[in-house]
Parts: sequence; C-alpha cells; structure tokens
Amino acid sequence: LASIEISMNDVPEGQTKTFEWRGKPVFVKHRTKNEIAREKAVVVSELRDPQHDDERVQKDEWSVVIGVCTHLGCVPIANAGDFGGYYCPCHGSHYDGSGRIRKGPAPLNLHVPAYAFKDTTIVIG
Ligand code: FES
Repeated sequence: LASIEISMNDVPEGQTKTFEWRGKPVFVKHRTKNEIAREKAVVVSELRDPQHDDERVQKDEWSVVIGVCTHLGCVPIANAGDFGGYYCPCHGSHYDGSGRIRKGPAPLNLHVPAYAFKDTTIVIG
C-alpha cells in the first residue's frame, strides 16, 4: 500500500491541513491545549458513535482522519461547524475536533487511517 509522509512542521498549531492519500483527502489537525481539553471532556455516552478521544489519537496534539463524510461521502470543510472540527455542507453534518459525528445525518465518526509518527513526520498508510 502506498503511504505518504507529512512533515509536522507544515501544520502549525491550531491549523488543519488536507493531504491526499490513495485518492482520498486526509485531514491532519494540530490541536491546541484548549482543543485537546474540549475533546477529552466530551461525554462519550452521549455520542452517536461513542468513542473517547483517546481511542482516536496517538498523540493528543494530532488528530488524523479521512476527510470523507460517513453519510454519503462528501468532503467536509475543516475548521467549520458547531463543534470545532468539520462541517459537511452536503446535508449538514457537524464533526468535532476529534472527527466524531455530533449533529446531522452522518451515522459514524470520520475514519482514522493507519498512521505512525516517525521523527518529525507522520506517515499515513
Ligand atoms: Fe455529508 Fe450528507 S454527505 S452530510
């Protein structure tokens, strides 16, 4: 499987950048302390697709998700929506800063691809 290597320096704190991996967008979000605290505090039992942030990240500062809405496959907009993450304009799904579905028709959280940290890079795939 083809993998891509992303330099962590290319994604400043507080920003989300989009990369392409195997024909799909991948969102790499460099989270601030406040964003991390907000995602850790979410009550998992109230989520549609219950997952703690810890199950979705390897390092708290970095969230890596596939940028394909789990409703009907549109590409959500990063840094948008009501929950500090992503907004899918097709039918109005809101995802949080961990990529979890919070509002709208999507049934599942944004998928987390296989990835690993290596020196100052994130290797996806
Ligand atoms: Fe994203 Fe429908 S495809 S809300």
